[in-house]
Amino acid sequence: MRKWTRREVLKSGVVVSAGITSAAAAIPGKVAAVTSPSPALPPPEDTSPRERLLMDFGWRFHLGHASDPAQDFGFDGDGMFSKTGDLVESLQDKFDDSKWRAVDLPHDWAVELDFQNDPGLVNHGFKPLDRNYPATSIGWYRRVFEIPAGDLGKRLHIEFDGVFRDCTVILNGQFIGRNMSGYAPFSYDVTDFLNYGAKNILIVRVDATQGEGWFYEGAGIYRHVWLTKTDPLHVAHGGIYVRPEVQGETAAVTIGAEVENQSADVRTFNVVTRLLDKNGTAVATAETQSMRADPWTTLTLVAQTGIPHPLLWSPEEPNLYRAVTTVQDANSGKTTDQYATTFGIRTIKFDPDEGFFLNGKPVKIKGMCNHQDHAGVGSALPDRIQYYRIEKLKEMGVNGYRTSHNPPTPELLDACDQLGMLVMDETRRMSSDPEAIGDLERMIRRDRNHPSVIIWSLANEEPLQGSGRGARIVSSMKRLARRLDPSRPVTTAMDDGWGEGVSGVVDVQGFNYHHGKEIDDFHQRFPKQPTIGTETGSTVSTRGIYVNDKEQGYVSAYDVNHPEWAETAEVWWKIYAERRFLSGGFVWTGFDYRGEPTPYEWPCINSHFGILDTCGFPKDNFYYYQAWWSDKPVLHLFPHWNWPGKEGQEIDVWCHSNLEKVELFLNGKSLGAKEVARNSHVEWKVPYKPGVIEARGYKGGRQVLVDKRETTGGPAKILLRPDRHEIKADGEDVSLVEVQVLDSQGRLVPVAGNDIVFQLSGNGKIIGVGNGDPSSHEPDKANKRRAFNGLCMVIVQSQKQPGEIRLEASSPGLEPATVALTSLSATLRPALA
Ligand code: GAL
Repeated sequence: MRKWTRREVLKSGVVVSAGITSAAAAIPGKVAAVTSPSPALPPPEDTSPRERLLMDFGWRFHLGHASDPAQDFGFDGDGMFSKTGDLVESLQDKFDDSKWRAVDLPHDWAVELDFQNDPGLVNHGFKPLDRNYPATSIGWYRRVFEIPAGDLGKRLHIEFDGVFRDCTVILNGQFIGRNMSGYAPFSYDVTDFLNYGAKNILIVRVDATQGEGWFYEGAGIYRHVWLTKTDPLHVAHGGIYVRPEVQGETAAVTIGAEVENQSADVRTFNVVTRLLDKNGTAVATAETQSMRADPWTTLTLVAQTGIPHPLLWSPEEPNLYRAVTTVQDANSGKTTDQYATTFGIRTIKFDPDEGFFLNGKPVKIKGMCNHQDHAGVGSALPDRIQYYRIEKLKEMGVNGYRTSHNPPTPELLDACDQLGMLVMDETRRMSSDPEAIGDLERMIRRDRNHPSVIIWSLANEEPLQGSGRGARIVSSMKRLARRLDPSRPVTTAMDDGWGEGVSGVVDVQGFNYHHGKEIDDFHQRFPKQPTIGTETGSTVSTRGIYVNDKEQGYVSAYDVNHPEWAETAEVWWKIYAERRFLSGGFVWTGFDYRGEPTPYEWPCINSHFGILDTCGFPKDNFYYYQAWWSDKPVLHLFPHWNWPGKEGQEIDVWCHSNLEKVELFLNGKSLGAKEVARNSHVEWKVPYKPGVIEARGYKGGRQVLVDKRETTGGPAKILLRPDRHEIKADGEDVSLVEVQVLDSQGRLVPVAGNDIVFQLSGNGKIIGVGNGDPSSHEPDKANKRRAFNGLCMVIVQSQKQPGEIRLEASSPGLEPATVALTSLSATLRPALA
């Protein structure tokens, strides 16, 4: 087919000819297009009318009531939906919201509530959210904004990245929509409902009385909200896919663009996608021929091009590219839309005998499952904390992340793309009902261009997993996944029924626990199906604790305690490491999370499964994984050596190391050397004597590393260690400041529990505190925190004014500490005023 350039179309005066438009093109559907591998086209204009404005700032918030309409702003009153445009009239124009609290997003009101010792709340971290707590289970958000008169004629959408949960969205008294899922993104076309050249009132009523999971889920608008403005002729939301396929020395790239003509006019247009490398240099271009879109139609255009000698994406080298798709009106030559998509080039393969392959090389997935909450902020994570968490996992040698059990925050996937992490992306509900299938569709459309995502997970431990009904449901889900993204396999995390029901549908068989025998049996019975450990080991432990203490809710940090359905780190990893056919596995879990306290309940309010605590401070098992999963030499000795009153009693001394031999010394005297077996640890029983316990690690006969624990003095001073001294003055960036309690010689006091008070001055604010203590009932939103085993954390957020931020930490009897952070002037993300 002949390629028409815009020039020719204009010159000829023929906007549309039979040669370039067919009847089929005018109805929704796929349209074949031509390829133009030339990178020499003019640079994309930046005159695109598309705007994407962050709507995070300037909200007002108030709790409502789940059972009393009078305390719920009249919601559920008589005749609520009787006429269009007067929903919650009392909150509209004349309402004075100055008594509502000013909040910025992301916001989680659950984390602000006091803990309640009610066994009914155990899974959700003892936060009062359910039918029995109507006064704290509903949240109202109100945002007033102007829309310029000049926007009339554009298409405007409000996009919610995630709201927990069941929210009713009301714009100018108009019911806009209701979204049940607490995790799936959703958006509304609000073009019809806005006041142009005037004030608009957006209200979101969030109902968190019903949970979805069995873990802490937060409450509120805990992810970003965006307002997008486009020309009526634009790329549909999530409407671009970029699908590279490596063919020898080249990546063949298929680009799909869904273009909507949301106008009453026939529009003729062409689509050009330029592929840019990380320096912004165009490396390929794909252009479609001019197309004609009838009024109110959507066309999908597919084009192909190639990138010679592409830089492949991998956890070690997370090379990224960007596709800039430009829609041009063929009549005026004007750009009507420009849409940027980050993508990466890599190949993936799950093999039944050889496991997982990335870019043609076998890679064992050394993964961790995670929920999404963090100390101090609950589920409302500033973007930077997503990166911080991925950085911590990478430091441990982790290369995989399972978004158990829900679609993640988009920035988590950005972090995984940029830092290099293989992702199992999971939807929340295994169902093909319209609601659940819609959630899955929105997740895949949003996430399918992330190179980090290597597999879709469609379910976790569902009662229907082994049944025919389950198989039918998952078949429908898989059909959708394939249609939206034929490039990735699907799995489900099963804890029973392998070989039955859903097993016959999924591409890769997932195993939650039940190690060894069941997996081997399955592999024998179904030798053609690849396998993966969707949940594997699960040591329960508390950072810095070496004796189980049910009363306090602490579990010792040796790698020995696990729920009966799981195994320790050392046991599961040996099983997986020995089986080449297994693609790898995901530990339950990387970080501690709120809720599901196991093995003890109240006073515990969070789980003990993490290898890092809720702040991201490593427990001892961190070093087991680092030893066997990373390339660096590791020698980690524990426990601490502060055991007054235990003189002469035997202490278990462990060392996680990947060196060949470790020799232990107490106060300079050798207690003998031990060989370190692969994927194991070494241990001694040592009668306690205060002083210095020291491990010396050897490789090739040479001493490579030394680690020691000393009996410290009492708490004497404070040390502040920000993860970054410089942050961006954008009102979003944060520094996570580790607070250490030291003795007079500057050694961490591993049992210190001092109350630390923070004072902040300058252009920043404290947005949360934490200490990783699973039984702490102190508030997260505070300017003080007790140290737990020597450590706590304070999270400092910038404001939009640059300048210095001074953080002081003090505690009675301790030498205080001060740290200066610099908040650097930054380009603010375009935001709605
Ligand atoms: C699994 C479940 C996880 C978590 C874990 C605790 O069965 O999939 O969400 O509950 O058990 O051990």
